[in-house]
Amino acid sequence: MEHKERVLSGMQSSGRVHLGNLVGALQNWVRLQDKYDCYYFIADWHALTTGYAKPEVLKESVRDLLINFLAAGLDPERSTIFIQSRILEHAELHLLLSMITPLGWLERVPTYKEKQLELKDRDLSTYGFLGYPLLQTADIIIYRAKHVPVGVDQVPHLEISREIARKFNNTYKEIFPEPNALLTEFPKVPGMDGRKMSKSYDNAIYLSDSPKEVEQKIRTMTTDPARIKRTDIGDPELSPVFQLHKVFSSKEEQAEVAAGCRTAGIGCIDCKKILIKNVYTVLEPIWERREKLISQPQRLQEIADQGTQKARKVCQETMALVREAMGLY
Ligand code: TRP
Repeated sequence: MEHKERVLSGMQSSGRVHLGNLVGALQNWVRLQDKYDCYYFIADWHALTTGYAKPEVLKESVRDLLINFLAAGLDPERSTIFIQSRILEHAELHLLLSMITPLGWLERVPTYKEKQLELKDRDLSTYGFLGYPLLQTADIIIYRAKHVPVGVDQVPHLEISREIARKFNNTYKEIFPEPNALLTEFPKVPGMDGRKMSKSYDNAIYLSDSPKEVEQKIRTMTTDPARIKRTDIGDPELSPVFQLHKVFSSKEEQAEVAAGCRTAGIGCIDCKKILIKNVYTVLEPIWERREKLISQPQRLQEIADQGTQKARKVCQETMALVREAMGLY
């Protein structure tokens, strides 16, 4: 069998999956399946680091994320798909790595302070939240994965992962390769208000939205604020609708709507109709697969069970080496 390099990535199960997650992460993960030995997981412990006060939503988020993984095209025949909290070895490695991780390294990670400011409604002065990047490090290096496809926002987490792997290797034994971020080239998908698409901004289009909801969301988007009447000319660069065209429409269509906007040749509704059609093209196969998966809870269980078993085996091998290296009895 040809040897493929290992890729690993995870997604936190803390809410619904939107077009930004799809284009920025999942579609890329799908493409990597041919070339690499891929491990993809649902980070439900990470969801608890900020969402610990709401355990009642967790199970449903995990199930929905699993459905979206598969609906987006992750293939359990080719990729190992699993749930973080089912593999206790991740927690064991997290604990053992905590022995060698200086507090300063964790406090320095920019997302630590940023998120605390952003999520002011919760108390994030917890040990688990500080340890977020360390748990992520354990997630990655336990598979001795070389490549980690992530967005730029995750680069500081990968940096600390490399530092910790290096420190482990120097202190004990050369066990862990230093993981690299495999950066997703895709531009940030803007939300309906032009800011980055994010569930915390309430500006997202979700994979679980119905066709009607998607249509409604796009139809009510703001455009160039200076274009009030149909006969006013507009600047497409000032319209969030055009920003979405850049992600979902062909070059020809982009040129056509841009020219139409600048000359008042087309109205905003016509411009939006083209966008709706193209977003539908992306979402229709996903909607179909979602529907089917929702009606097969048994199959979902099986996929999660099989992936978890396969992933656990890899973790057990690594942990045997780690326990030995750290002098455990
Ligand atoms: N921090 C990642 C996110 O916010 C989720 C994650 C957890 C992850 N563990 C990981 C990503 C390991 C890559 C590798 O989406």
